[in-house]
Amino acid sequence: MENSVTGIMIRHHAAIDLLIKLFNEEPDKKSPASEKTFEDFKWELEKHIFTEERVIFKLCGEMESPECKLAERLSNEHKTFLDLLDKIAKDKEEKDISGLQTLLAGHKKIEEADLYPRLDAILSQRQKEIVFEKINDISPAN
Ligand SMILES: [Fe+2]
Ligand SMILES: [Fe+2]
Repeated sequence: MENSVTGIMIRHHAAIDLLIKLFNEEPDKKSPASEKTFEDFKWELEKHIFTEERVIFKLCGEMESPECKLAERLSNEHKTFLDLLDKIAKDKEEKDISGLQTLLAGHKKIEEADLYPRLDAILSQRQKEIVFEKINDISPAN
């Protein structure tokens, strides 16, 4: 699992989930501390989406393959997440991330159970190494 797209991306998801948990535990959603936690969450999620779009989804192979069809669907969901993030960021009232949190949970399940394992099965070791190198550049775990 360690040297797999699935393993490394599950760790990314866990880091984002931790920021969601921290934000939800903030007692005052308008406090500077809570703003900072939201900014950290937004930043990590944007980086994660950038990595998936630019490094991982591109390796799905032929346009008509099941992997690419799935990547396209997930990519459309990413657009929704980025819009929602911007909307929430502009909200001067108490920030509510619950809707986004629910959408992310469903999205993550599909990636972890379906897309990432499919990619692990079709990518060469060399391709995986390139992916790991790029992901490690911006990994929240580093
Ligand atoms: Fe994604
Ligand atoms: Fe993801």
